Amino acid sequence: MAWIAGEKVMLRAWEREDVRSRWEADQTADSTEIRLRDWHEPPRSLQQREAEFDAQQADPDPATVALIIEAEGRVVGDVNLFHYDAKNRNASIGLSIWRREDRDRGYGTDAMRALMRWGFREFNLHRIELSVAPENERALHVYAKLGFALEGRRRESAYADGRYNDEVIMGVLRAEFEARDHAGTRETAAGRTQSASTA
Ligand SMILES: CC(C)(COP(=O)(O)OP(=O)(O)OC[C@H]1O[C@@H](n2cnc3c(N)ncnc32)[C@H](O)[C@@H]1OP(=O)(O)O)[C@@H](O)C(=O)NCCC(=O)NCCS
Repeated sequence: MAWIAGEKVMLRAWEREDVRSRWEADQTADSTEIRLRDWHEPPRSLQQREAEFDAQQADPDPATVALIIEAEGRVVGDVNLFHYDAKNRNASIGLSIWRREDRDRGYGTDAMRALMRWGFREFNLHRIELSVAPENERALHVYAKLGFALEGRRRESAYADGRYNDEVIMGVLRAEFEARDHAGTRETAAGRTQSASTA
């Protein structure tokens, strides 16, 4: 498969030049974003990141599906399934829209929905989970809209900015996602039929 299509975005494999795009976007991030994006790492040079990318390409992690999000013909972020557990058909998911000016344009929701659809329907996952900072209201809103239910809270599990912070755990089962996804598809199709008949 060459790509996974959403409504607004398309998901494709990482190429080496994407490492530079990500590095450049990271140079514009402020400290709040850094914490919300869960990077607790020292600054790394472009050369270090390219070397890491080359090592991953040479020895790929079989438990991870890492994809680039493209919209309007350019790279806007990345979305990943990781911690894939073949016995229990579980995986975790992570999403990032790299630049502030690309957020709130529907790309994140669309990208995550497209990867979840692929994960459930093509990769036969049973459950997808994620963790998010409790104050990340935009991310919580997006995940709830996609059908993720609040499952718990890991207390003081993430150290940042000199203190231990809680993380919220959310999860969605395939049947829950599909019920919502099919309803959305029916609504979209009904809207199309209605606008075609009134045109
Ligand atoms: C969180 C993130 C992935 C979402 O992607 P996105 O492309 O910006 O999201 P979308 O445009 O698809 O949807 C944003 C939704 O949040 C809503 N929103 C925006 N700010 C909000 C806020 N402060 N509180 C609640 N909802 C908010 C928008 O109205 C929109 O909802 P709607 O479609 O129902 O109107 C992206 O903003 C991002 O990468 N942020 C920085 C890093 C981060 O937080 N990563 C997630 C770590 S778990």
